[in-house]
Amino acid sequence: MSMVEVAIQSDRGVARLTITRPEALNALNRQVLDELAEALGTLEDDADTRVVVVTGAGRAFVAGADIAEIAGLPSRAAAEAFSRQGQGVFDRLAASRLVSIMAINGYALGGGLELALAGDLRLLAESARVGLPEIGLGIIPGFGGTQRLARLIGEGRALELVLTGRQIPAAEAWRLGLANQVIPDGDLLASADRLAEELAAKAPAALVAAKRAVRGGIDHELATGLAGEAAWFGRVAATADAREGTEAFLNKRAPHFTGR
Ligand code: COA
Repeated sequence: MSMVEVAIQSDRGVARLTITRPEALNALNRQVLDELAEALGTLEDDADTRVVVVTGAGRAFVAGADIAEIAGLPSRAAAEAFSRQGQGVFDRLAASRLVSIMAINGYALGGGLELALAGDLRLLAESARVGLPEIGLGIIPGFGGTQRLARLIGEGRALELVLTGRQIPAAEAWRLGLANQVIPDGDLLASADRLAEELAAKAPAALVAAKRAVRGGIDHELATGLAGEAAWFGRVAATADAREGTEAFLNKRAPHFTGR
């Protein structure tokens, strides 16, 4: 049985990935991780899909890596490989040409928060709770959490969450800069879909370049990031959509982007 559902709406340029293992609060076992990677591949192969909404079925987004699988890891090497597997899938999402909106509908703990951190934008339902509780299990985050959380909200705040394992409510996640928006529970998916459609209506090359310029620069010194930005700017400015967008502004009309 498939645990990652993919729904593509090519005509609108958007897709939805739903992690569907509600009996275990969508905990990430190896099968779910494999299916997530496969689903991303499917969406990347669909040239019309530009934005993906990622969410969880039932009352959780994802309650973490599968603790039963972690308990059964036979060796240090196997544990490191499990960490690398999760990191690899989440890296792929972070580096993807697809813009990802994480629609966080409930618990996003451990690997669930790490998945959310690998996405581009995070919308949290008011009742969502997030945290990195691994320390309470005698382990640490292993799917990118120690790195991405510190980069997103700063070292001190990240250390507090990693060291205490504390779960925080959506409003606090917003104050920390972890959530882009907090949304009433019943409106979460509709809001995520609206945002996805808004982004998918942008000039496609500009959308990818905008993501890549920010993502590509963040881990480098400023001069390298600026060089990357200029290269992306040059590439995008040469597109027909850039001509259309600038001319439309100058002629006081709405742009009509064609993806060229
Ligand atoms: N791995 C494996 N199974 C998990 C899981 C995980 N990360 N998180 C939840 N589950 C399972 C539970 O074992 C339970 O299964 P069962 O019905 O067969 O007993 C089921 O999902 C429902 O969870 P339950 O704990 O009964 O729900 P709750 O509402 O009482 O508590 C949480 C919800 C999220 C607070 C609690 O499930 C929890 O603390 N989960 C682990 C969070 C965590 O430490 N994540 C990091 C993992 S590295």
